[in-house]
Amino acid sequence: MSSFKPVRIAIVGCGMIAKNGYQPRCLNYKNKIELAGYFDQDKARAEEFQKIAGGGKVYAKLEDVFNDSSVEAVLNLTTLDGHYPVSLAALKAGKNVYSEKPVSITTPQADELIREAESRKLKLGCAPSSPLGYEQQNVWSRIRGGEIGTPHTVVGSFSCTRLEYWHPNADVFMCNGVSVIADAAPYPLTMMTTYFGPVVRVSGFSRILIPEREIQTGPKAGTKFKPTIPNHVMGLLEFENGVRGYIHSGWSGQSTVPALEIQGTDGSFLLNPHNDGAGVKFLSAKSHESQPIPTPPKAMNNALDWGKGVADFADAIRTNRTPRCSAYQARHIVEIAEKLNEASDKGTSVKLTTRFDPPAPIGEVAPWE
Ligand SMILES: NC(=O)c1ccc[n+]([C@@H]2O[C@H](COP(=O)([O-])OP(=O)(O)OC[C@H]3O[C@@H](n4cnc5c(N)ncnc54)[C@H](O)[C@@H]3O)[C@@H](O)[C@H]2O)c1
Repeated sequence: MSSFKPVRIAIVGCGMIAKNGYQPRCLNYKNKIELAGYFDQDKARAEEFQKIAGGGKVYAKLEDVFNDSSVEAVLNLTTLDGHYPVSLAALKAGKNVYSEKPVSITTPQADELIREAESRKLKLGCAPSSPLGYEQQNVWSRIRGGEIGTPHTVVGSFSCTRLEYWHPNADVFMCNGVSVIADAAPYPLTMMTTYFGPVVRVSGFSRILIPEREIQTGPKAGTKFKPTIPNHVMGLLEFENGVRGYIHSGWSGQSTVPALEIQGTDGSFLLNPHNDGAGVKFLSAKSHESQPIPTPPKAMNNALDWGKGVADFADAIRTNRTPRCSAYQARHIVEIAEKLNEASDKGTSVKLTTRFDPPAPIGEVAPWE
């Protein structure tokens, strides 16, 4: 029997992704995680979570989560306007924090969260956990093993249908933060930076497309809003290791720009940057040959395992190491989003100031197994 004591974690923010992604998948890692309870500013949502799990506390106030000495960590699944204030308050209350992306709205806020965590010797992790997918790890080991020769270019995209048609709080996402890059593009950008490390310079175009939108679903259906942050961005990236990249992201229409394509001197890999088990294709650089790469047996069936990053974070708390899905990498993604806006406004390329050490590959036995 394992001697690992599961980490007691409270979920703050019981919305769409907490319900469909995190709660079911965290319950799948009972060896690492114990869901201690739930808090949402809408109490009925927290009560629903308690009912689904058949237990766990419902907290009436955020302070009640902080005052519960049995809670070791907060899983911050609020909308992006809540990430920095809730995470900061949780760290100040002595709780470890794993946040949905983006880790904060600005780079200085992320600096503050990291300083707070480091000074209190707490762990600060951040989604997405997609680099922990078995398929994404398998491609990483094939790149390191030289299967595509020397990698030189990486292309990524997250461009979906108009957000206001499927998300009941689309206005929150388009009126807070930096741009669609900070909210949607962390999937390709986190994979790109996991494989190739930090970006040193960016240039690009950011803009607001469709200046007035109307929410089409949920309680706010019919509400009109004017987006205030860029919701369509195209960027060029120069990585510290010499690789060059292109990122494309928007909430204004689907695109066939590859979700993630890694090009090398001998070939390219095409894969999904968020879902595990979605399939990988190898394209030869020397012929027109294209072939599927076998899916690792443990991969999900074309899905993202939301609980895996939290399970790795729990393991990082117990073994006193940096979580693989780290705030350092998440801060770098926030800065990429900020600097793409700056580059667009100035019409020039802009240097980044943050960097991070890419996470270690998961190896033969993953920390959550
Ligand atoms: N919905 C998705 O498909 C999806 C996918 C991946 C990641 N995410 C990320 O997950 C986060 C949440 O997204 P969502 O889609 O679940 O949003 P949502 O609006 O459905 O849920 C957010 C929940 O947080 C609660 N909340 C907000 N601020 C709070 C606060 N200060 N204290 C307590 N509760 C608070 C809201 O009441 C709501 O229940 C976002 O950062 C988003 O980028 C969402």
